[in-house]
Amino acid sequence: MNFSITCAAGLESILKKEIEIAGYKVLGSWPTRVRFQGELSAIAKMNLRSRVWNKIFIELEQHTASDFNQLFDLVQKIDWKLYVQGNPIIVNAITKQSLLTSTPTIQSITKKSIVKKLLDGKEWQLPEDHSKQTIEVLVYIERDMCWILLNTTGESLHKRGYKKATGEAPINESLAAGLLLLSGWKFSEPLYDFFCGSGTIAIEAALLAKNIAPGMFRRFAFENFPRYDEELLYLEIEAAKNKVIINKWHTIIASDIDPRMIAMAKENAKNAGVEEYITFIEKDISEYINDSELVWTMVSNPPYGLRMNAYDLEKLYHTITELFIKHPKLHGGIITSYEKFNPENGEWTRKKSVFFNGGERCLFYKKTLLK
Ligand SMILES: C[S@@+](CC[C@H](N)C(=O)[O-])C[C@H]1O[C@@H](n2cnc3c(N)ncnc32)[C@H](O)[C@@H]1O
Repeated sequence: MNFSITCAAGLESILKKEIEIAGYKVLGSWPTRVRFQGELSAIAKMNLRSRVWNKIFIELEQHTASDFNQLFDLVQKIDWKLYVQGNPIIVNAITKQSLLTSTPTIQSITKKSIVKKLLDGKEWQLPEDHSKQTIEVLVYIERDMCWILLNTTGESLHKRGYKKATGEAPINESLAAGLLLLSGWKFSEPLYDFFCGSGTIAIEAALLAKNIAPGMFRRFAFENFPRYDEELLYLEIEAAKNKVIINKWHTIIASDIDPRMIAMAKENAKNAGVEEYITFIEKDISEYINDSELVWTMVSNPPYGLRMNAYDLEKLYHTITELFIKHPKLHGGIITSYEKFNPENGEWTRKKSVFFNGGERCLFYKKTLLK
């Protein structure tokens, strides 16, 4: 069985590593998409364990489709009754460098073909029960090769389910986990987030260090498939519980200038079951400057500027730069879209891949320790 997984641009290499660590064979990788081969149980396992990806799709069919008749016929080959029983169906489409360019037409032809197949060739209107989970079908066409994909995840996996409250610019959970993995953080070392907001980076750090499967707090679309075997998810949940690291202590420090954010972050950490592993402090970044030397990893997401005036923002980024000068052994990374943040110091590397956080184009600046 083949699968396609989507992720945020820039996280593909981490996604590939996650797939290989889980024991599956990677079939190929494109920007924001990686394909792999696995058995049926991979659906439960990978949805539960995923840290950096968004949605896992089963590849139902794949063939060249350079006209709409070929697309219609390809969709007809699928036994839709295995996946749909009165559920509303939504068809999405992505097409790149192909003869079929109109996404609305691709969507409507595909839906027509699914309905015809479900109604055994009779082209009547399909009754949809809106109390049931919506089934998402994604038609992905690249260079005339067409994949008919079925979403097994439901809402994107970055929606873990623990964030009941957020500040104004929360970072996406999958991106936070990806940045922690890119930062070079060794889980045995203390980790700082100086601008914790609603606590996403610190919570993801605790889930990582404790090896807690991030999908534990939510439900998945595949649970509504007519022939879904509950046992598969149950077994994967039990296996994931056994993998949680319980006998090691980790130091994760999350601070923010705003006491309301600290309260919110604590609540979210409680929802994720990791409150006891994080030390929350109400603190202005400038107060760290004269602390005794900070030598550990930091991953932070400072304000970008949409909600601060230019003067305060420049002052804040000046403080950040000063902190790193005073504490040369502090390392890790900063994600920001603030273009004037341009640490000249050779220890900083500017990640070439651009990340999008809530639609905002950002760069991840990585600071490595000189040997
Ligand atoms: C972009 S938000 C961080 C969002 C966070 N990553 C999340 O997932 O919710 C920036 C945070 O920096 C905090 N902040 C602003 N100025 C600060 C300062 N001088 N020292 C510490 N925190 C500050 C704000 O209160 C805000 O929560």
